[in-house]
Amino acid sequence: MLNPFTIARRLRRIGLLGLNARNADYVLLYNQRRFYPRVDDKLQTKNLAIAAGLPVPALYAVVREEHEIAALHDKLAPYESFVVKPAHGSGGDGILVIHGRRGNRYRRAGGSLMSRGEFEHHLSNGLSGLYSLGGQPDHLLVEYCVKFDPVFEKVSYGGVPDVRIISFLGYPVMAMIRLPTRMSDGKANLHQGAIGVGIDIPTGLTRRGVWGTEPVEEHPDTENSIVGLAIPHWQELLLIAARSYELSGLGYVGVDIVLDRELGPLILELNARPGLSIQIANGQGLEPRLRAVQQLQRSGNLSADPIERVAFACSHFATT
Ligand SMILES: Nc1ncnc2c1ncn2[C@@H]1O[C@H](COP(=O)(O)OP(=O)(O)O)[C@@H](O)[C@H]1O
Ligand SMILES: [Mg+2]
Repeated sequence: MLNPFTIARRLRRIGLLGLNARNADYVLLYNQRRFYPRVDDKLQTKNLAIAAGLPVPALYAVVREEHEIAALHDKLAPYESFVVKPAHGSGGDGILVIHGRRGNRYRRAGGSLMSRGEFEHHLSNGLSGLYSLGGQPDHLLVEYCVKFDPVFEKVSYGGVPDVRIISFLGYPVMAMIRLPTRMSDGKANLHQGAIGVGIDIPTGLTRRGVWGTEPVEEHPDTENSIVGLAIPHWQELLLIAARSYELSGLGYVGVDIVLDRELGPLILELNARPGLSIQIANGQGLEPRLRAVQQLQRSGNLSADPIERVAFACSHFATT
């Protein structure tokens, strides 16, 4: 058994950032509260991204009132698949990924069918704030359901993988891809049971992965290797993450991007308090990378050009 001092020393050696340090040294210092609504409300984020010329999934409908729910069946009839999500949701809670219909019923990403009544009930719960930050009444977004890039066919189950990139002062410092599993029901959130796989910043190649607390090299449902995959459009993804700084005004932000087989990269959302498991997925700590950017800041060398920031990240943040 390792004693706690040995564990603490090892964690420090790889520069693992803990929850307290993330909050005190990064989130509080670099994220101004007045900008939080830009990322806490997914509708605002979508509108800001559109205004900045960044790609997002198309919005089909916004539901604000209970009485709008019944009309939705007809309104959504033209779309074979779609996604419903609470504007202030997090961790994949309350998200419905609908892949098709069977008669009057909706087929969920995990394969189960949902009656109209169950669908309406779910949306009504969503409006009441059941799935949202702080439990406040919320509004719901209905949007285009992303069709994943064929590269991911062998390593996802029932849903779209998403790429999470942490951007610090506009520098993409660390990245992972999250792969949905049978357990995660069409969502790529780690807490829903998705796998997190670290991505090497310069090359866009996947390295090691974790499922819960377990290291994994294969997808548990498809049994295909999750190591050595080349993420398509990688430089574009890094550039989107870099530009999320200007978009949000937040110094420390997690950017979630999905890859559509026809439309390419699309921004799903931004997070002002991104989780720390990205370090476990990469087997590396954030601290040294964040310090490298702080060093630029201290010496007055921060770049205002997202392309330059991506170039810096590619030459400094390889996963060893
Ligand atoms: N438009 C969409 N098309 C397909 N899958 C989606 C879509 N929106 C969300 N998802 C799935 O749900 C997950 C969580 O969505 P996200 O918008 O990031 O909300 P949350 O704040 O709950 O994490 C995504 O990682 C993705 O797997
Ligand atoms: Mg997310």
